[in-house]
Amino acid sequence: MIQGELVDIVAYRPEYIDLAVEMLSDPEVRRYLPSFIWPPGASEVRDWFQRMEGDPRTRNFAILDKSGQFIGNIGLRNLNWQSRTVDLVIFIGDRRFWGNGYGRDAICAVLDHLFANLNLHRVGLQVLEYNERAIRCYQACGFVVEGRSRQAHYANGRYWDLIQMGILKDEWYARRDMA
Ligand SMILES: CC(C)(COP(=O)(O)OP(=O)(O)OC[C@H]1O[C@@H](n2cnc3c(N)ncnc32)[C@H](O)[C@@H]1OP(=O)(O)O)[C@@H](O)C(=O)NCCC(=O)NCCS
Repeated sequence: MIQGELVDIVAYRPEYIDLAVEMLSDPEVRRYLPSFIWPPGASEVRDWFQRMEGDPRTRNFAILDKSGQFIGNIGLRNLNWQSRTVDLVIFIGDRRFWGNGYGRDAICAVLDHLFANLNLHRVGLQVLEYNERAIRCYQACGFVVEGRSRQAHYANGRYWDLIQMGILKDEWYARRDMA
């Protein structure tokens, strides 16, 4: 278990997958997740989780609040042990938890684990330009904007840029030393 101040990051249990399916049926959550254009079915999400479990470059963890309630998913993609890089994905699917520091707490706890215990060098992520809450959250964790894929996503009648953000191990520690 990885412990934050507001959340615990734990291995998945089957019941969390059912809750994740419910969360992903909310269009307001999916609006920020370009890979989920349709509300996914339960078996589809189970298959997806199973495929990921078989992929050594990928991990998914459940985010629980301190009462043990499942509130979302935090995952690693494209884990590369040679370059020591990884991409981060996250959703908090219970909207009541948005904007209350849970995302920041979960990400900072995972970043600390990745840099301090796994000796990774770089963590990257991609975010839609209209996802201001996520961008603010990532910046608060120390991610910086590195570039953008122009007009990479179509939604609501127009194209939107996908912003690339990243944080290096040195930057994570420099930021913590300053705090
Ligand atoms: C993105 C997400 C993980 C962030 O977690 P969170 O707990 O909501 O974020 P936090 O409360 O830690 O930080 C949010 C920041 O945005 C600000 N914020 C909150 N609501 C906002 C809004 N509607 N618009 C702009 N900024 C907003 C907060 O003030 C905070 O900034 P601050 O620390 O400078 O005050 C979560 O909102 C989420 O899962 N959203 C839906 C799915 C998603 O967007 N996933 C990410 C895809 S890249």
